Amino acid sequence: MRKTRLVMGLIVTLGVVTCLSFKSNDPSDDIAVLKALYSSGDSTKWPKATIDSNTVGFQEIGRLGAVSYPADNLPNPEKVKLGKLLFYDGRLSQSNQIACASCHDPQLGWGDGKKLGFGHDRKLGKRNVMTLFNTAFYTKLFWDGRAKSLEDQARFPIADHVEMNIDPHEMAEKIQGFKGYKPMFKEAFGDDSISLDRILKAIATFERTIVSKKSRFDIFVKGNKEALTDDEIMGLHLFRTKARCINCHNGPLFSDNQFHNDGQTLWGTANEDLGRYNVTKDKKDIGAFKTPSLREVAATGPWFHHGNFTELKDIVSTYNLGNPANIPKKYLGTPRDSLLPTPSPLIKKLGLTPLEQKQVIAFLEALTNSPMRVKVPTEFPE
Ligand code: HEC
Ligand code: HEC
Repeated sequence: MRKTRLVMGLIVTLGVVTCLSFKSNDPSDDIAVLKALYSSGDSTKWPKATIDSNTVGFQEIGRLGAVSYPADNLPNPEKVKLGKLLFYDGRLSQSNQIACASCHDPQLGWGDGKKLGFGHDRKLGKRNVMTLFNTAFYTKLFWDGRAKSLEDQARFPIADHVEMNIDPHEMAEKIQGFKGYKPMFKEAFGDDSISLDRILKAIATFERTIVSKKSRFDIFVKGNKEALTDDEIMGLHLFRTKARCINCHNGPLFSDNQFHNDGQTLWGTANEDLGRYNVTKDKKDIGAFKTPSLREVAATGPWFHHGNFTELKDIVSTYNLGNPANIPKKYLGTPRDSLLPTPSPLIKKLGLTPLEQKQVIAFLEALTNSPMRVKVPTEFPE
């Protein structure tokens, strides 16, 4: 009797060990096994991700850690409150009408819901408005990475002629004129002097509070195996394997903080954008854009730097085709050909079935929370 129990125990143990060491990349993998592995609370037990050797700085996807703050701009609640007020204050613009929040609205995923945003004199911008969700976790800001910190970033929209259209120092002088701000600067910074540097620091501190709540994906990988549906689990698995998304959308942010050419340069057209190349003048950066985080992605459309994608299903089917960047013949054969964009070798034809594409989209939706509730300031210091 004892012997039989021992043998039985051995068989069960062996079974469990085989299941947990399961390493296949076949998407027809048994869903029950995938569910157990991915919700085990230990990502080292997950099936191996399909990553190429030229993937830079790979990090597994997972829960977001704590925000880190620059040593010369540590947070306090008063600074956050002041930063929020400045973020919503239209008087930071020349017309007194355009606030940061005009283009970055929490009810629209901290973007504006448009293909391209508009600012001063209703002039249209050149790129899709980026979401402000989780910007604290990026090492460079903007689609082309031209800003190195949130403090540095904020002066760009202030000065931009199609955004807030004011010399940043002139803006700071204008804000100095509203005496009601003085006590708030004192609480935030220790004395009541108002400067451009402090305005940018307060806004950046507020932005660092715009962090996603735990998504259903986070709850699932922490151990609640009912938090994702079977299709979403399959989508997660495909995202890491056959669909190859994890080559670039990796780490807790679902962005590698790198720049890649996704075949979206729109070469030769009026909307051509050479992206990161404009900043570095390095040919390998032609048409490369920052990998955007996919947290909250279902709420931040339309998508891509040009805002041309209005549906997630079109994005996934484009990736499935290997992002063909067709350059019409009429645009070829000129001296500019030396700048022809080359899509990243990480982009490949995927061969996802229609069902698999739906599962990837279901997973992206599981990374999206209900809209963040923000109490919008309506009164500003005089
Ligand atoms: C007229 C619309 C508009 C206004 C006003 C505006 N932005 Fe933006 N914001 C954009 C666009 C468009 C981009 C992307 C531009 C690019 O990459 O070239 C962007 C990008 C950003 C980013 C980069 C996010 C990332 O992931 O890299 C941050 C941060 C940001 N804005 C903060 C602000 C702040 C702070 C203000 C106010 C001082 C502001 N924005 C005002 C349209 C606007
Ligand atoms: C070669 C790296 C790379 C791979 C692989 C990759 N992406 Fe991307 N992804 C990017 C970059 C870079 C952008 C922004 C490109 C642009 O705006 O021109 C982007 C944009 C997106 C966007 C739009 C997000 C936004 O805020 O506008 C979605 C959604 C997306 N990718 C999903 C996926 C999915 C799903 C997969 C797998 C099927 C995938 N990506 C594979 C690099 C990659």
